[in-house]
Amino acid sequence: AEPASALAVPQTGAPDLTLLKRVGTVDPTSLDDYRAHGGYTALRRAFALGPAAVIREVTDAGLVGRGGAAFPTGRKWQATAAQPDHPHYLVCNADESEPGTFKDRVLMEGDPYALVEAMTIAAYATGAHRGYLYLRGEYPRATARLTHAIEQARTRGLLGDDVLGQGYAFDIEIRRGAGAYICGEETALFNSIEGRRGEPRSKPPFPVEKGLFGKPTVENNVETLVNVLPILTRGAEAYAAIGTPASTGPKLFCVSGSVARPGVYELPFGATLGELLTLAGVRDGLRAVLLGGAAGGFVRPDELDIPLTFEGTREAGTTLGSGVVMAFDDTVPLPRLLLRIAEFFRDESCGQCVPCRVGTVRQEEALHRLVDRTGADADGDITLLREVGRAMRDASICGLGQTAWNAVESAIDRLGAYE
Ligand code: NAI
Ligand code: SF4
Repeated sequence: AEPASALAVPQTGAPDLTLLKRVGTVDPTSLDDYRAHGGYTALRRAFALGPAAVIREVTDAGLVGRGGAAFPTGRKWQATAAQPDHPHYLVCNADESEPGTFKDRVLMEGDPYALVEAMTIAAYATGAHRGYLYLRGEYPRATARLTHAIEQARTRGLLGDDVLGQGYAFDIEIRRGAGAYICGEETALFNSIEGRRGEPRSKPPFPVEKGLFGKPTVENNVETLVNVLPILTRGAEAYAAIGTPASTGPKLFCVSGSVARPGVYELPFGATLGELLTLAGVRDGLRAVLLGGAAGGFVRPDELDIPLTFEGTREAGTTLGSGVVMAFDDTVPLPRLLLRIAEFFRDESCGQCVPCRVGTVRQEEALHRLVDRTGADADGDITLLREVGRAMRDASICGLGQTAWNAVESAIDRLGAYE
């Protein structure tokens, strides 16, 4: 069966500049159909421009990473391309594991050739001849479709020693994750590909300098890469006209929870949270909305005018992250939900550093006491949560530990979770 997620009609107002335009329309198993729907126009333009001009287009478009961190893509590509050390690698992070995130899955299952084409462009721009697609193990359909798409592209000269007859060599290898959330962290992901334990490395050095196999590596999320196609076919200026000056282009949002129509929605940056929830059919009795997933934060029902941009959510003291929007109505027991989030982080901590290894356990214990009301002193447990949370945020090696307290903190401070 096809994915259950409902797809909203793309809302950017510029149909050829949308990310979902082919999803549900194109035959994902047919390279010919992909071409008939405009496929491989962007790669031809890339070859006509040359690597430096491709990077300039991506930079001028204002594209920033859609995995959650919003780092400027053009800057990452430029930094990799400039490295004298060789070989350069391209890694596509398709280990989509943030709870509530399923946008990359929809792109990969519905339009797999788009990712193959976009990876080829990214590699060409940054001087890589080998790409790895690190695919979440729980996405069998995406794996099958991409395996097929890569084979077909190879057969038809769109991957291999002489891509499109341009004398440029590039090929893609799929590596499947095995269920560890931490392997979505880019350096843990490199370790996983290299056959080591999936533990994050300290940064710097950043992957653009020393990444996979210690070599310069550009690592991008699936949605980030797919954005490169409309940037090249329509140009940076047309792309940058969508959204806001600081958050350009279209964005995929994953809406779930207490809504009538959960699914992936494509909107230009700048739409409000309330507008998105109205599209998804928010139910009565809304109690809270979790933005950015387990690593994100809660907002209240009276905060639905928050603009869905990186800067707007930051100003509102929360985060857009990878585009997760989870709605909870007043039938959801909030303390239990927070305990579930804490269990998740304790379970997924790789255990490499003390603040996270111990902090996630202490956080879960305190939340257990608050749920069971076995703690003699609820105020004391909240004080302990704040101290542990601060230590995790300040001293953890990677984003998992640094963000493991975000959702709980926002629930205490914004929602009054234990009052
Ligand atoms: P980060 O801010 O450390 O890095 C973001 C990217 O920019 C990385 O590729 C990093 O190498 C690069 N970078 C940062 N500074 C650089 C510099 N000076 N020079 C060159 N490159 C530089 O964030 P991180 O830890 O990679 O990602 C955190 C985000 O991931 C969070 O926002 C979270 O929401 C999101 N996330 C997404 C998940 C998903 O399933 N999509 C799962 C878990 C977290
Ligand atoms: Fe591992 Fe947590 Fe430390 Fe990250 S913060 S390296 S997940 S123990």
